[in-house]
This record gives sequence, C-alpha cells and structure tokens, in this order.
Amino acid sequence: PASTAEPRPGDLTVGGVPLAEIADRFGTPVYVLDENEVRDRCRTYRHAFPDAEVLYAAKAFLCRAMVHWMAEEGLGLDVCSAGELELAVTTGFPPERMVLHGNAKSPQDLETALRLGVGRIVIDSPSEIARLAAAVGPGGHQKVMVRVVPGISAGGHEKIRTGTDDQKFGLSISDGYAQHAIARILDQPQLELTGLHCHLGSQITSVKPYVAAVRRTVGLMARLHEQHGLVLSELDLGGGHGIAYRPGEEGLDPTALAHRVRIELAEACAAAQLPVPHVIIEPGRAIVGPAGIALYHVLAVKHTGERVFVAVDGGMSDNPRPALYGVRYAPRLIGRHSIADPARVTVVGRHCEAGDILAADVELPGDVRPGDLLGVPVAGAYHLSMASGYNLVGRPPVAAVRDGCARLLVRRESLDDIRTRDVGV
Ligand code: LLP
Repeated sequence: PASTAEPRPGDLTVGGVPLAEIADRFGTPVYVLDENEVRDRCRTYRHAFPDAEVLYAAKAFLCRAMVHWMAEEGLGLDVCSAGELELAVTTGFPPERMVLHGNAKSPQDLETALRLGVGRIVIDSPSEIARLAAAVGPGGHQKVMVRVVPGISAGGHEKIRTGTDDQKFGLSISDGYAQHAIARILDQPQLELTGLHCHLGSQITSVKPYVAAVRRTVGLMARLHEQHGLVLSELDLGGGHGIAYRPGEEGLDPTALAHRVRIELAEACAAAQLPVPHVIIEPGRAIVGPAGIALYHVLAVKHTGERVFVAVDGGMSDNPRPALYGVRYAPRLIGRHSIADPARVTVVGRHCEAGDILAADVELPGDVRPGDLLGVPVAGAYHLSMASGYNLVGRPPVAAVRDGCARLLVRRESLDDIRTRDVGV
C-alpha cells in the first residue's frame, strides 16, 4: 500500500516513502533502494552510450529485482560466478546478454556458463585457455574476449586498481603475455575471439585513464592485425566509474566519458586503419551506489576522553568498505528534527573489534541518542554484496521504494537461517 503517514519533522522521504516508516516496517539495519533512481541511472548510460552495450556489473549488488530492472532497461550483465549467473538466468535474463569474468573461474562457473549459454567468457589467464576449450568440446563454439592489462594506474584505492602490471587480473600488454595468450586462443577452433577487455579499476573520477586505455588497446589491436591479420570487432572498457559519497565530492560524468571515448577511439582506429570496434562498458557502482541508503538504529552513545562513539545495530558485516578502503561516508539523523548544535562523533558498528568504524569524525546533532535512526547515503553498491556473516548477526534485508510504496526485495537473514546451515557436530 502507498504510504499515507504524515512525514515526521526532520524525516527524509525516498521514492515518496518516509525512511522512518521503512525502518518501522522492516526493522533495522535495512537497505533501501530507490527503484526509479536505479532506472534513471541506467537510462543516463543508455543515452550517453547509444551505440555501446552497457553491462551492469552484478558484483556491485544483485537480487532478482535488479535483474528485472536491468533487463527492462536494456542493459546486459557482467557476472563473475555460477551464483550470479544462476540467479540472473532463473529470473529470466537472456544468457546471451551476459559476460562471464573471473581470474580463477571454478569448474562450476565454467560448466554453468556453458550450460546456460552465456554470451561471452573473458579469458584472464593462459591456463584457462585449454581448460575452456576442453569444456566447450570439439565441434563446440564459444565467444570469448581476453582481458588485457594496459599498465595504467587508476582507481580510488590501491586494493581496487587493476590496470597495472603488478596485480592478479588479466594479461599484460607490455610484457607480451596478452599477445602470447591471444596466439594460443586463435589456435583453438572452438573459441571465437571477439575482442579485448580492459578494466582499469574502480572509483575512477577522471576520463584520462580511459583515454589512455583506448590508445593502449587499439595499439594492441593494430599489432594483432599486422601479425595475425586479425580484426577484432569488440572493445570492452570495463567499469570503474566513480561516484560522490559525500556532499562536495564529484563522480565521473558518463556523458563526458562517452564523448571522450568516442573521439579517442575514432582517432586511434583511423590512425591504425582499423574499423571502430563495438564498445562495451560495465558500470556497477555508478548504477546502484547512489540509489541505496542504509538505515540503522543507534543502540549506544559513549563519551571517552577522546571521542563520542555512536554505536549502531549494523557495521562492518554489512559495510566493510570503511575498514577495507578507508572510505568516508556522511551519516545523517533521520526521522527526528533536532535543533542541537552539531557535535563531532564517530559512528561505529556492533561488531567485536575496534576497527568496526562506519564513519569517523563526522558531524551529527549533539543530542544524538539511543533509539535515533541514522541513514548512511550512497550505500547501494558493494555493501550487501560484500556482506559477511561476522558474529552471526545475519545479513540485513533490502527494500525497494517507488511512487510512494515500499516493498521487501530480500528478506533479513533470520536466526533460523543461521541455525539450519549447521548439519553436523
Ligand atoms: N568490470 C569488471 C571486470 C570488474 O571487475 C568490476 C569491478 C566492474 C566492471 C565494475 O566496477 P564499478 O563500475 O562498480 O567500479 N569492492 C570495491 C569495488 C571492487 C570492484 C571490483 N570490480 C569497493 O567497494 O569499492
């Protein structure tokens, strides 16, 4: 039913539903996704890249509703496990619009991808070539791309940079590993190499690394043309488009990116006398990150000599990003209007370690107290998809809001779920 509640003073409404009402209805912690915002972001990408294939990177967050929304908005899917594949296909997503990634694909990943008929498989290491060819079998056919490493450093944190040679993904262009692997792929009649793939990293806020990646990959395409007479028809530039997590920060504008990539690609291909390849992009964070907000209740407020700690009912099990990458969020008080002066506080979680910090040194109203509701905006990407079972607290539910209605998409992990996974003593 549509929300009829009068918003309380200080309340924040998303998708026409007061957030405090969602917290009352589904409990906390809860993740709230604004369906229209997800869809709008898909449309922005489709408009910015009208000739390109836009794949949503499912690792940012996947559930059945997301699969439906992506299908309806005309996006494809970048998946990296049998789990993501299975969820998408059993929800009705066309497998040919999916691309399978992974630096270490399990036998189950490959078997599932081939059984379901995934569109393309991205080869990430030399040892995968023979394994995939054998799995496809003589007389079989599978489209593949090869993930190349352009030697470009970009991304919001060292742990999410994948464009440099000294990391685990892909095959280096400068060391010749990419060229070597491509020659071996060309020897496998059941593998059809359609193009190159290159994912630089994540939370990139400038178009420059993408421009450099276009030059580098087209350079490789030109050499492959000379050496093998090969004309590759696709270029997948990966994802990594940065977003703003706090007021005042800037993300990467998809329209500006599309514009620069188009110009650069046309010039590089003209210089190399190659046809312009069909472009593929794989945004994850930029589709779903800003459309999500995490809601928590404050359970305790504690003053120490150094700080004021505001402890909430979630933490690093539903959002490991501050602990992993030092990411900073801007939590806010929801559902109550406060006229108290702002105070500097540190918002922490409920987990059994001192590093369980959600937001260090942020401003909240000085009268913040147990029972208050806090919202952490920009929580749609890489929160729940990276959630853990730490301390057996159970993963939070996901609700969607649209046109004044809220509905549950993913239920809370219950004590029953936790108990029934154990099958032996
Ligand atoms: N394509 C490939 C091959 C990827 O590995 C990724 C992300 C993407 C696309 C999407 O990147 P996005 O547009 O979402 O930045 N857990 C980290 C982010 C790891 C990204 C891993 N790969 C975080 O919370 O910041």
